[in-house]
Amino acid sequence: MKTPIHFRLNDEEVATFAEGGANLLDMLREAVGDLSVKGGCWQGTCGTCTVLVNGAPRLSCVTLAESCSGTSIETVAGLRRGGELHPLQTAFMQRFAAQCGYCTPGMLMASKALLDRNPNPSHEDVVDAICGNICRCTGYEPIIAAVLDAARAAGRQHT
Ligand code: FES
Ligand code: FES
Repeated sequence: MKTPIHFRLNDEEVATFAEGGANLLDMLREAVGDLSVKGGCWQGTCGTCTVLVNGAPRLSCVTLAESCSGTSIETVAGLRRGGELHPLQTAFMQRFAAQCGYCTPGMLMASKALLDRNPNPSHEDVVDAICGNICRCTGYEPIIAAVLDAARAAGRQHT
């Protein structure tokens, strides 16, 4: 059975149908066409499918699509604004924080959730924020450095 649902996706209203029991990851990719959301394990263990629901990071592969009706959802597709990369995207490039890219969508969104609630995080805060996101390439330090760089860059934009 299909259920009509509506939500905001990266500041645009979306109305669609969710298959009974469908997860948010598959609904965003297949029904809405937002291919910036990536799946890895589909079991809630890798973190690459992380999106923000009402500002909080959620594993979209284990989130029931129907439960997100009426919410505001953010994905990597919404990070770039007016042709400008988000400071996190720029910092990830500059710090070589993306290698194979498997983890990158989830890392970016988990990091955005952190910076949105804490614009001046410590190294430990960043580790906490991304502890559910697995990266097999970077050893994590380039990612942590990138998030700290992005926080500093965002701070400069607002001074
Ligand atoms: S695809 Fe969702 S946690 Fe791995
Ligand atoms: S860049 Fe390859 S898993 Fe993180």
